[in-house]
Amino acid sequence: MRQIIVAGNWKMNASKETVNALIMGILEGMPDVKSEVIVCVPYPYLSQVEALATHSQLHLGAQDLNINTSGAFTGEVSADMIKDFGAEYVVVGHSERRSLYGESDEIVAEKVQVALDSGLTPLFCIGESLGERESNNTQSVVARQMNAVIDRVGIEAFKGIIIAYEPVWAIGTGVTATPQQAQETHAFIRGLLAENDADIAQSTPILYGGSMNPANAEELIACADIDGGLIGGASLKSDDFLHICKAG
Ligand code: 13P
Repeated sequence: MRQIIVAGNWKMNASKETVNALIMGILEGMPDVKSEVIVCVPYPYLSQVEALATHSQLHLGAQDLNINTSGAFTGEVSADMIKDFGAEYVVVGHSERRSLYGESDEIVAEKVQVALDSGLTPLFCIGESLGERESNNTQSVVARQMNAVIDRVGIEAFKGIIIAYEPVWAIGTGVTATPQQAQETHAFIRGLLAENDADIAQSTPILYGGSMNPANAEELIACADIDGGLIGGASLKSDDFLHICKAG
């Protein structure tokens, strides 16, 4: 039985005031939650969330990292800086980073390696665009994204990786993949892992992301190969987020 994991990705949404209310709200509901819960917050709020969540069951993550350890990289943030604030997780290869900031499969694979080297657990994101799905290329795209990372870090490293399947057409659109669509691709991803190592395929968490909300979370997480969610919009309201956290 794999542990259900629910991770919030706040993206570029936060203020000191909203962070306070959101984290306090989540913490209030945490005693009833059996899933592992992570919030991936914008860099400036790592410290605030670290302080608020001390001694709680809430885990902290960042949303990206630089591949270098330190030096002349203006505006960038290293893995060690993220760890310095008690974060254990980092989102890597989100479709917004791939499409808006030109992150190639190779850069994403390098970031996964750097995260692992520093002791952070990558939430490694993959997923096809609408055009790719409509032209029947979902599996080839997902396989390409997966294999770039498997080739770079090796299959054993997946013991420390969480995969998030996020169909791009479902992100922030209110259009969720049906449980059948999501399960089909999750099973395909697990099959790719199994081609390399059957045990690792069984133990690797594969989360679904893309308009997951309190109304659809339970049905999605009930699917055999869906081990939780990576939540955008619905992670910004403590009630909605907690509802999803309890769906597992
Ligand atoms: P939404 O839940 O807002 O669709 O975002 C999903 C996502 O991109 C999480 O990383």
